[in-house]
Amino acid sequence: MRTYVITGGTDGIGRGLGLYLLRRGDRVIAVASGERKGHALLAEAERSGAADRAVFLRADLSTLAGMRKVIDEVRATTDAVDGLVFGAQRFRSVREETEDGLEFTFALGYLSRFVIGHGLMEHLERADRPVIMNIAGPGGLPGRIVWDDLQSRRGYKGMRAAMQGSRCIDLLGAGFPARYPDARTRYVLYNPLFVNTGMADPLPQPKRAVTKGLARLFAQPVDKAVVPIARLLDDPPKPAVTAFRRSRALPLTGKDFDQAAAARLHQVTTDLLAEITQARR
Ligand SMILES: NC(=O)c1ccc[n+]([C@@H]2O[C@H](COP(=O)([O-])OP(=O)(O)OC[C@H]3O[C@@H](n4cnc5c(N)ncnc54)[C@H](OP(=O)(O)O)[C@@H]3O)[C@@H](O)[C@H]2O)c1
Repeated sequence: MRTYVITGGTDGIGRGLGLYLLRRGDRVIAVASGERKGHALLAEAERSGAADRAVFLRADLSTLAGMRKVIDEVRATTDAVDGLVFGAQRFRSVREETEDGLEFTFALGYLSRFVIGHGLMEHLERADRPVIMNIAGPGGLPGRIVWDDLQSRRGYKGMRAAMQGSRCIDLLGAGFPARYPDARTRYVLYNPLFVNTGMADPLPQPKRAVTKGLARLFAQPVDKAVVPIARLLDDPPKPAVTAFRRSRALPLTGKDFDQAAAARLHQVTTDLLAEITQARR
């Protein structure tokens, strides 16, 4: 029996993937902030005969306390992690600061993947063919990292913050082999393209209605979208890091995957985490 940790595992792609893995006999720890969807997932797991293999771990991943809770609970309850899947996200049209003084999109979309990914590496390395599956937007909508304003204090725009998060995630994956040159864990950056989920729920009207209408017409259903993701978990690519747009492999070239920028972001992120810890003392 394999063990998968899925952030954002109670809705959309994360939920669909979790149920797919539970139904075939795997163990799933689904992380999300809302209790209602967590309990609904457990009820569905019970109907599928997987109650004893489904865990709901409630944590607000926009906060460092929530990220650390996940690391601590997974370490305490699991010997090895076969797959760590990142799918937690929430669009914010208005700038919001977390209890750590960070911009919400940066904290949830990028930083939680940084902190939990590094925090669970030891447990991943104990598995046979471990994978970090980062579901995001490689090769998708453009966006850039504003190095002197990572917390989007100047003229916040929700889409700009989301796209900056996407570029940070690309660099997080691109820099993985340099951090863990001897690791067996494979890092996969995966863009599912348009999938019919509740992703548009936090959008302001009329954008929400338009996006939901388009999703009904053109987006892939979750059940279909999770199949290639599960395939990559079962049969991880040979290179240490890869990026896909659905089943199409993307070249890891260009500024989105630049090694110097990846090293710079790693340093900036490490410094930021140290500053927050220092300020708390
Ligand atoms: N859907 C698409 O068309 C599409 C396209 C490209 C990329 N993607 C990527 O695919 C991934 C999954 O997207 P999706 O559309 O399936 O998302 P979704 O349906 O909106 O689900 C998001 C999940 O994240 C959780 N979440 C939100 N805020 C959280 C917080 N503060 N702490 C912990 N968990 C939180 C939600 O549960 P709670 O609200 O209860 O916390 C939910 O389980 C994302 O990374 C997204 O960027 C999606």
